[in-house]
Amino acid sequence: MLQLKNVSVVRGGTKIVKNVNLKFKEGHIHVLLGANGSGKSTLAQGIMGVFPVEGEIYLGEERIDSLSINERARMGITLAFQEPARFEGIRVKDYLLLSSRSKRMSEIEEVIKMVGLPKPVLFQTMDESLSGGERKRIELAAVMLMKPKFAILDEIDSGIDMVSFRRIGEAITIMKRAGTGVILITHNEDMINIGDLASIICRGEVIKTGAPMEIRDMFTSSPCPVLGVNA
Ligand SMILES: Nc1ncnc2c1ncn2[C@@H]1O[C@H](COP(=O)(O)OP(=O)(O)OP(=O)(O)O)[C@@H](O)[C@H]1O
Ligand SMILES: [Mg+2]
Repeated sequence: MLQLKNVSVVRGGTKIVKNVNLKFKEGHIHVLLGANGSGKSTLAQGIMGVFPVEGEIYLGEERIDSLSINERARMGITLAFQEPARFEGIRVKDYLLLSSRSKRMSEIEEVIKMVGLPKPVLFQTMDESLSGGERKRIELAAVMLMKPKFAILDEIDSGIDMVSFRRIGEAITIMKRAGTGVILITHNEDMINIGDLASIICRGEVIKTGAPMEIRDMFTSSPCPVLGVNA
């Protein structure tokens, strides 16, 4: 269990995330929905330790909110950033080997297939020659190879073409079946289907948590229902 108790995040003197209380379970997919600027990426980075948080974060029994990013990563938390960091110059294969626990090429080939990329991509370099969608999928492959306890996927599905989209959903479901708790930040209605639970974030607050379909309907009718505004 990964638990947030009254978690707030202040950036540039403004409280962006406000008193979030959420419980994430291993082997479950929890979808986070929210309009642009509602604080999803800020929350994701607060959980990972990129930004300091107020409140408490527990991984199992252990309180982790004052630990460094590296310490949290070692404990099994991974964040795939909305804008992935660039590792210019290194080959895709070597990038994935860095993430891989087993260091087996066969596993890397298997995972690259799961995210719908052809094998030769492994021998390309991580530079502008890769498309945006390819980068996102390589990022997902890296997260899968880490076999984390919890994976926060920040819009891993954005910029993915229609055909590959389904495959990304399947790959995330495979992670879940392997026991990873997935926190799935998405703007895509079709991705919500794979969730076990979903929450709406509105102006930094979690305003509703429930069954994915119920949350999707609520969100599409008004992204900020409590305030009754479309922001
Ligand atoms: N240093 C800062 N000072 C003030 N506001 C900031 C600062 N950094 C970020 N923000 C604001 O925080 C809000 C939340 O940003 P965040 O990236 O978490 O949103 P998001 O929900 O991930 O949006 P998107 O769906 O567009 O990715 C935005 O309105 C952003 O402008
Ligand atoms: Mg974001």
